[in-house]
Amino acid sequence: MANDRHYSPVDRLLLQADMALRTLLPFSGQPSRPSPAIVEPEAELDSKQTRHIAGLMRINHTGEVCAQALYQGQALTAKLPKVRAAMEHAADEEVDHLAWCEQRIRQLNSHPSVLNPLFYGLSFGVGAVAGLVSDRVSLGFVAATEDQVVKHLDEHLQQIPEEDGKSRAILEQMRNDEQEHANSALNAGGARFPAPVKLGMTMLSKVMTKTAYRI
Ligand SMILES: [Fe+2]
Ligand SMILES: [Fe+2]
Repeated sequence: MANDRHYSPVDRLLLQADMALRTLLPFSGQPSRPSPAIVEPEAELDSKQTRHIAGLMRINHTGEVCAQALYQGQALTAKLPKVRAAMEHAADEEVDHLAWCEQRIRQLNSHPSVLNPLFYGLSFGVGAVAGLVSDRVSLGFVAATEDQVVKHLDEHLQQIPEEDGKSRAILEQMRNDEQEHANSALNAGGARFPAPVKLGMTMLSKVMTKTAYRI
């Protein structure tokens, strides 16, 4: 992104609104890499399996909505341009994840979570506040969040049947990317959060996963 000093507050507000809409409106994210699922054949899944996998992919999609919001909230308030640059690559990859998950959810005849605007707002707020506290804290949040996402992805990969190569290919690529995002946030100076903070984040993410699985 160009130097933000050229943007007026109104410009920045409009840019944020544009990003939010691009995250929340169906089919609006343009992935820069094709989905790893396209080379995999569609599996024969029964309706119970299909519903379960769609629920898991809905959780992952909502997780990506949260990631977008976190990065955008953080970019709004981060003090050092260096931090924004460090996280821009990660934020681009999150756009891919978002689009891949949405494509897969539609292939499974389902829809993204209706709660996404709510989770977007909450995560944007967390990102913006963390960015206000310090760049170290805000990068620490990214690292802790990405760690959490890797854990979810591992759990989901255990639950998704081997024959569903499409869903698995997406989650495996996402897992690699998220691990790198966590590492680059720590390398850019992110704080390692103490266990109680991580526990609080785990509890919040439980609320997200329980609800997004269903609606
Ligand atoms: Fe992601
Ligand atoms: Fe990520």
